[in-house]
Amino acid sequence: MVARRRRLVVGNWKMNGDRAANAALLQAFLAERVGDEAEVSVCAPAPYLVQVSTLLEASSIAWGGQDCSSHESGAYTGEVSAAMLAELGCRHVIVGHSERRALHAESDVFVAEKAAAALRHGLVPIVCVGETLAEREAGATEQVVARQLAAVTALLGTDIDRVVVAYEPVWAIGTGRTASPEQADAVHSFLRDRLAEASAGSDAVRILYGGSVKADNAAQLFARPHIDGGLIGGASLKASEFAAICRAAAKTSTHGVASP
Ligand code: 13P
Repeated sequence: MVARRRRLVVGNWKMNGDRAANAALLQAFLAERVGDEAEVSVCAPAPYLVQVSTLLEASSIAWGGQDCSSHESGAYTGEVSAAMLAELGCRHVIVGHSERRALHAESDVFVAEKAAAALRHGLVPIVCVGETLAEREAGATEQVVARQLAAVTALLGTDIDRVVVAYEPVWAIGTGRTASPEQADAVHSFLRDRLAEASAGSDAVRILYGGSVKADNAAQLFARPHIDGGLIGGASLKASEFAAICRAAAKTSTHGVASP
């Protein structure tokens, strides 16, 4: 039997927004009243997390960071620690996004260390994995995502049960080229098996899909048995579009399954 996990939809604003735009976006999103059948979170740029927390604290919407340091504190100019994010009320933090792996040369082990730092401070790390177009065309998709996930399971052990995994094929990010529901589901199923090998308690771990998720393709993606929600870039910057994606997730969500 396929376990039903409560759906999770996370907006990744990336490096977008300003005080006025953030307020307008979140007020319009709150006015959509999407309900809480699916869990919803917004990962904003660090300088705006105080503003976002003020706008969302009376709602059921969570918030999070887009990255954190693997270090606790100290001489790491420009870095944001997991403790700082936790103090700002963050529930989530994205680690290992492909833009950071590619543009900031983040290795699999480094990403795992960030996930561990997040867990030490009570945050839920959203660990991103995904292959490039060249890797997919070379037939290496499973090898790549297995390697990326294995670095995290090796470091965390059974604490892998406390993370969220996001499968984001690099070729589908910001390109308008979505993985088909079948393509995505096949990789999710593969990741689910790797999680089960790493920990008997990993059934509650949610595996999100990210990469050109829009209001008009979300329902088909979320209907697949191994897709537990979405990590949404561009479409999370439009209140009505993001709300429609959250509603699509809510339709396939169930309460009562405790997931990290
Ligand atoms: P898009 O939804 O804009 O393709 O971005 C996906 C993503 O990278 C989310 O982290």
